Amino acid sequence: MVAAVAAGAADQPSAGKGELAFNNHCRTCHSIKPDDHRQGPSLHGIVGAEAGSTGYAAYSEGMKNSDVTWDEPTLDKFIENPDQVIPNNKMKPYTGLTDEGVRQQIVDFLESRGKSE
Ligand code: HEC
Repeated sequence: MVAAVAAGAADQPSAGKGELAFNNHCRTCHSIKPDDHRQGPSLHGIVGAEAGSTGYAAYSEGMKNSDVTWDEPTLDKFIENPDQVIPNNKMKPYTGLTDEGVRQQIVDFLESRGKSE
């Protein structure tokens, strides 16, 4: 009866953990409040948005000129290794998150808490 837990927390609703992971790895530079651009762009409504489209003033050419749409798999790849998805981005000194479970929590958090509506 504890099988679901043993199978791994990745499939569980994990808002609490996701928020914590976001705070640990992203919040130094990003907010999820609309139009709250800091060192990096606001990530409000980022899931489903086009890269470089938030109104943040300091995008790199790489980000502005990319054709990327931030669906969940693309976001996951980006936070694993930004340069692989957007060459010449300037999301530095962030270097990537190797832990798949943590990336999933962050993407879920952005999906559930960063919506436009
Ligand atoms: C050291 C500061 C910093 C950290 C830490 C950081 N970012 Fe960023 N992020 C940036 C900057 C600066 C940009 C703009 C990059 C560019 O224009 O090339 C950016 C861009 C982005 C974009 C593209 C946004 C858009 O409007 O297209 C996403 C998505 C993103 N970051 C997600 C994350 C996530 C998720 C984390 C945590 C796992 C994270 N970032 C951690 C600074 C950071």
